[in-house]
Amino acid sequence: MEAKLNVAVFISGGGTNLQSLIDAAADPDYPARIAVVISSSKKAYGLTRAENAGIPGVVLRKKDFESKEAYTVRLLEVLKEHDTDVICLAGYLKLIPPEVVRAYRNRILNIHPALLPKFGGKGMYGLRVHQAVLEAGETVSGPTVHVVDEIYDNGEILAQREVSVIPGEEPESLQKRVLEQEHKVYPEVLRRVCEEIQSGKR
Ligand code: GRF
Repeated sequence: MEAKLNVAVFISGGGTNLQSLIDAAADPDYPARIAVVISSSKKAYGLTRAENAGIPGVVLRKKDFESKEAYTVRLLEVLKEHDTDVICLAGYLKLIPPEVVRAYRNRILNIHPALLPKFGGKGMYGLRVHQAVLEAGETVSGPTVHVVDEIYDNGEILAQREVSVIPGEEPESLQKRVLEQEHKVYPEVLRRVCEEIQSGKR
């Protein structure tokens, strides 16, 4: 088997998607290992999930640095220290610095809880997304996994899963069903991307 690729997972919150990646990577045949978890918040429960799985967790907040540049330098250093091959954003609420996008071009993935290109962009996260889907009268929603570039929710779409909207439902109930699909699709796409990198296709 090819050497496993090292994945850095970026979180800001609960980290249920992080958990789905940790669980998938427990399979000896999975082409990736979760090498480090980087959090934009000290309080993110995802840090506990990382600790429970024996994965190093690092809190990196722009406000703790004297400049944006110093923050970016440290972020790149942490990624290097863990030999990062691929980055997965999993409920990460900050924009990735353009220097990091350039350093990991085509190797940064994000999961978004709606069918992009609709219902994406700055400020579209959490329940707001599902609320917008319901207000627009959509009959289907579902997660999108895409490549991250310099613009929010903009890069190449790698996979989408459809979830039917139940007429009259609340955003919380739609969120729950979309999240169930997120937990399936993200590990699948990460596997595919890692296999593509290993075979020189990406
Ligand atoms: C998910 O809905 C994901 O699509 C979005 O943020 C949420 C994160 O949830 N990007 P969790 O922290 O993985 O539970």
